Amino acid sequence: MNIVVTGGAGFIGSNFLNLLVPRHPEHRFINADKLTYAAHLGSLESIADRPNYALERTDIADAQAVRELFQKHKPQLVVHFAAESHVDRSIHAPEAFITTNITGTFNLLQAFRELPQGHGVLFHHVSTDEVYGSLGETGLFTETTPYDPSSPYSASKASSDHLVRAYHRTYGLPTKITNCSNNYGPYQFPEKLVPLMILNAAEGKPLPVYGRGVNIRDWLYVEDHCEAIWAVIHKGRIGETYNVGGLSERRNLDVVQQICALVAEETGQPLAQVQGLIRFVEDRPGHDLRYAIDPSKVMRECDFRPRENFESGLRKTVRWFLENKTWVEQVRSGEYRKWIEKNYSARA
Ligand code: NAD
Ligand code: TYD
Repeated sequence: MNIVVTGGAGFIGSNFLNLLVPRHPEHRFINADKLTYAAHLGSLESIADRPNYALERTDIADAQAVRELFQKHKPQLVVHFAAESHVDRSIHAPEAFITTNITGTFNLLQAFRELPQGHGVLFHHVSTDEVYGSLGETGLFTETTPYDPSSPYSASKASSDHLVRAYHRTYGLPTKITNCSNNYGPYQFPEKLVPLMILNAAEGKPLPVYGRGVNIRDWLYVEDHCEAIWAVIHKGRIGETYNVGGLSERRNLDVVQQICALVAEETGQPLAQVQGLIRFVEDRPGHDLRYAIDPSKVMRECDFRPRENFESGLRKTVRWFLENKTWVEQVRSGEYRKWIEKNYSARA
């Protein structure tokens, strides 16, 4: 089958392709990616020359380009990862989030609808638990938790989820949605908490913790997320939503402390010296206090079980970032340095 994977050069998309392209030579994977700052083709080196993989540079906000791509490849399956994905960037400059996450998703749905009868077997939409807003100290997000997004990023993802559901109900488009908790692992762009802290700790740079570090995120190793998506594609029910998580809640400060311990151990630096880099900085506006997923539906209906726990996954991730210096240097381009200056100079 022909599978269009949007955003396949980003963090989760590249992990998805690296896992599935070698495993499924019977499928053709077409990576439709605009190649924004968040993309890196070096993340796809191991599959770039495989006969069942192709890159089609495409901006999903360009309706005509999406239509042409779908007419050319006639995908039976679309796995839609492409998005602007960083909450802090959405606070500074929300426009691209509206264009890519909302209009881009709309363009994909329209083009999928226009495929010849019988071609479009499934549109799988990859989303986030941030659409549900913030939890208090107790409770878990389920698939029926009301949407209550806080940031321009989560509001744009909520809009895209609503569009996908509307296309299923109105036009009978075969769709599924997964809403996943925070991912971490290889190839994550180092603007996000885990890779930023690993690299700064290794290089003796400040570790900027927003507010008092008491916000809680629910962490899932990226390959577990990719396996969950593949399981939902095959075993989930059409028109349904599945929340994906690994029952792994952690306070941000505890995550940072754990990263300090692992980096100290792996690099031989004294732990106190690494911990001494922690700085409490100005909080994020509208900062959601707590996210936590109830994954019982995806576990029950799709036999999903995460392979990594937070400790094993974090150790792998720390080692990966310490060992892949060329990848790190390549993604920290001029644009990256400008972002770090803009976001952190104001908070110091
Ligand atoms: P990312 O920012 O690392 O990668 C996004 C990719 O999309 C990049 O390759 C980028 O070039 C591409 N892209 C951006 N705009 C595009 C456009 N207009 N046209 C085509 N391609 C475009 O993001 P990620 O962390 O890999 O997230 C992938 C998806 O998973 C997103 O939809 C995100 O909302 C969702 N998600 C992420 C997490 C997480 O923790 N990272 C958790 C749950 C859900
Ligand atoms: P992030 O990785 O940006 O993911 P998200 O906002 O989508 O959850 O941030 C994870 C948590 O870490 C979030 O509560 C904000 C916090 N954070 C910091 O404390 N310092 C930082 O430098 C960053 C990037 C995030």
